[in-house]
Amino acid sequence: MLLARGLPLILVLFVVAVAPTAAAEDSRESVDQETSKPVVRGSIVFKAYCVLCHGERGDGTGRGAKAHARLHLAIKPSQPDYYISVVREGGQSAGISPYMPPWKDELSAEQIADVVAYLGILHDSARRGEAVFKLNCMLCHGVHGDGNGRAGRLSHPSPADLTRSTKDDPYKTGIISSGGAAMGRSSSMPPWGKQLTETEIQDLVQYLKTLLVVPSASQK
Ligand code: HEC
Ligand code: HEC
Repeated sequence: MLLARGLPLILVLFVVAVAPTAAAEDSRESVDQETSKPVVRGSIVFKAYCVLCHGERGDGTGRGAKAHARLHLAIKPSQPDYYISVVREGGQSAGISPYMPPWKDELSAEQIADVVAYLGILHDSARRGEAVFKLNCMLCHGVHGDGNGRAGRLSHPSPADLTRSTKDDPYKTGIISSGGAAMGRSSSMPPWGKQLTETEIQDLVQYLKTLLVVPSASQK
């Protein structure tokens, strides 16, 4: 008798304890863990110190590239050791162009390690987009893009669950650039067209594809 009545109670307690975590807001720890990843921090260093010459995709189409029109500013995929020595000591020491400055006095060892981690994903649009997402979108849309971000509770309607979006890429590009209000949706989704570049928005849209739990949903 006692056992028969106790068992369902245990089940109820179990469900109550487990169910909220399934849909719960992100923890502060999980957010800190994402923003302190070397690749994410390295994206900030790259944007501040390297984009001007090397371009956002590392293909040498930066604004400063014009001044170095006769140089090859593309960063080729290489080993981290090679990247570290070129970034620390400059081009001359690696037997390439002296117009690549040494950064060891400008950047900390940690910043150099971070930017080198970012160089490892520089040629992958979706992974660049992941860094942009973690820095700009994660607090609302959540660590996993499922709408459970820490700032999400302030937002009505709540941030969209991007893992189940049925919208296509042009729609996503539109709402990211122009914001929700311009698309007849809620102004809780801010416009990003002024803060982010076209490349960053394209990269975000590539990253959002990787989040879909039902990939074909994006084809609608
Ligand atoms: C003033 C322009 C300039 C800036 C700013 C600059 N670089 Fe360079 N970088 C160059 C030039 C020029 C080269 C040499 C290209 C060559 O000779 O192949 C180069 C080469 C490189 C290479 C070697 C590429 C390869 O494929 O061999 C890496 C890696 C690199 N830079 C990383 C960085 C990083 C990281 C930053 C930011 C911390 C940065 N660069 C900032 C101009 C710049
Ligand atoms: C301040 C909170 C907030 C931030 C920050 C935010 N969003 Fe949103 N986003 C929303 C809300 C709320 C909606 C839903 C609007 C609605 O349903 O009317 C939304 C909707 C969207 C949608 C539409 C999804 C669909 O399937 O309809 C996309 C795509 C999107 N956001 C991407 C992003 C990206 C990328 C970023 C970062 C650059 C970002 N959002 C930053 C709150 C936010």
